Amino acid sequence: MDAAQVENIASQYLPSRWHYYYARSKLATDPLYAAVVEALAGTHAPLLDLGCGMGLLAHCCRACGVAFSYHGVDNDIAKIELARAAAARAGLSACRFDTLDLAQGMPAHQGSVALLDVLQFLPPERMAVLIAQAAACITDSGRLVIRTGLQDASWRTRVTKAADWFSRAIRWMNAAPRAYPTNAFLHEHLRAHGLEASFSPLWGNTPFNNWLVVARRSTAIPRANPGIAPSPAPAG
Ligand SMILES: C[S@@+](CC[C@H](N)C(=O)[O-])C[C@H]1O[C@@H](n2cnc3c(N)ncnc32)[C@H](O)[C@@H]1O
Repeated sequence: MDAAQVENIASQYLPSRWHYYYARSKLATDPLYAAVVEALAGTHAPLLDLGCGMGLLAHCCRACGVAFSYHGVDNDIAKIELARAAAARAGLSACRFDTLDLAQGMPAHQGSVALLDVLQFLPPERMAVLIAQAAACITDSGRLVIRTGLQDASWRTRVTKAADWFSRAIRWMNAAPRAYPTNAFLHEHLRAHGLEASFSPLWGNTPFNNWLVVARRSTAIPRANPGIAPSPAPAG
């Protein structure tokens, strides 16, 4: 996205200067949204955005000409209200936002699913269940797009955890991080549910250990493999 598109999206969050500047700097510095839009390009499958925050992804998809119906859910009611107001201001059609706690469940859906910077806030035992439920939603043309910090021994992992704790301390996040998945955990669970995944680093100029995981349904893998009992999510 160019500077004018970034400015246009950020201005949908006015009159709150804080949200305007947050959106502007996030869009200008984080490679996340461009990478997700690229991963979703070519599919018209409806998108369910789990833990959608203030709904930036919906604006980016529209700005980049990627068209599908969009449903964002988040357990932070203030962010959902912000997302609704900005979407209405921007005239985003085929777009809705609802409050929902992913620790309790997720909406029925068929198409694509985005899970961006959310997994670490879920109870560890819920992570595997949510991935299974998200995988079951993915249609033949759909994608499951995950951005997450991965648990490994790198300094980036330590910085990622510190930043998530800082976001909680300043009350930008309504939850503290619980646990981060490992590469092997995600591979195993996605495969167990019939999805083939590619992993690529997505930290851009940031110091975080962020990875983009793009998973598609694979005809080479059975849709669900009850014979595999994937390992539990890693603890903190
Ligand atoms: C780091 S933000 C990412 C927002 C958005 N996905 C993005 O990338 O722009 C994490 C989001 O997850 C949401 N979240 C955390 N725990 C959640 C839960 N149990 N259910 C639903 N949303 C949750 C937070 O409210 C927050 O909006």
